[in-house]
Amino acid sequence: MAEKLVLAGPASEELGRSVAEKLGLPLLNAEFRVFPDGESKFTLNDKVSGKSVFLVQSTYKPVDQHLFQLILASHHLSEDGAKVTAVVPYLAYARQDKEFLPGEGVSLGTVAHLMRSAGVRRLVTVDIHSAEGLALFSFPTYSVSAIPSLVAYARDNLEFKDPVVISPDFGGSKRTEAFAQLYGAPFLRLSKTRDKKSGEVAIQEDVLDVKGKDVLIVDDIISTGGTVRAASEAVMKQGARHAAALCVHGLFVGGALESLEKASVKTIVSTNTVPGAHNVVDVSDALASHLRTLEE
Ligand code: R5P
Repeated sequence: MAEKLVLAGPASEELGRSVAEKLGLPLLNAEFRVFPDGESKFTLNDKVSGKSVFLVQSTYKPVDQHLFQLILASHHLSEDGAKVTAVVPYLAYARQDKEFLPGEGVSLGTVAHLMRSAGVRRLVTVDIHSAEGLALFSFPTYSVSAIPSLVAYARDNLEFKDPVVISPDFGGSKRTEAFAQLYGAPFLRLSKTRDKKSGEVAIQEDVLDVKGKDVLIVDDIISTGGTVRAASEAVMKQGARHAAALCVHGLFVGGALESLEKASVKTIVSTNTVPGAHNVVDVSDALASHLRTLEE
């Protein structure tokens, strides 16, 4: 049986360490460095031939740097004879998994191609934006759900009165519906449209049964906060008592957090696929449980 090791990449040092601890596996001795001009370097200080390495590296901002560090490490490890499983808690570019407008590149397809060329043999991610994206990879891929961890956190740490769980759009509604079922609250869906050129979000003002209730807006990603802000404004206008936002990947770029607070979103919670002050729901158990099931 091949020896297993974990490499905690610079974007996921804490999460990688925690996964290694839960699996009872040693951490690989390696160094990542970024030069003043922005170039990255990877140095491997261990022998990995014939070993299986779980390379944990999330690809949040700076996206291309984190992605390239993953590529550098995977290429080096595989050239030295390791079997590389890329564990990418937040998989960047997953939203561009098709040509939405004529001429657009399928960025996730390029990521898949890069990973394969760099020797990645399996990919494990958390709640990929859409399962369809996995079809772009020509090696085994797995998307682990963080929804049970988010539900457990909400049950143990947050108090709501007459909770209603809302999906801001159709795309992510299955994930949000699963949250509602596990949490034991009614589920509603808003209709969001996004201008494919400007990216601007609009929510259709359907009449919703939210008066006096606490609304939990559940989405896979919060990036600029535009989606959750529009959803929160829509439900508050209809008399909701409180709006909370829960997501898997809390990117919170630019002034996202301030803008959500202004839009009366009182509670903001994310998992730790991306590190951050609101990113408190730990996915290391979910990842470790899945990695345990993989054959070497
Ligand atoms: C899009 O379909 C995703 O599920 C999210 O709703 C979106 O990425 C959130 O982005 P933002 O916070 O910038 O509106």
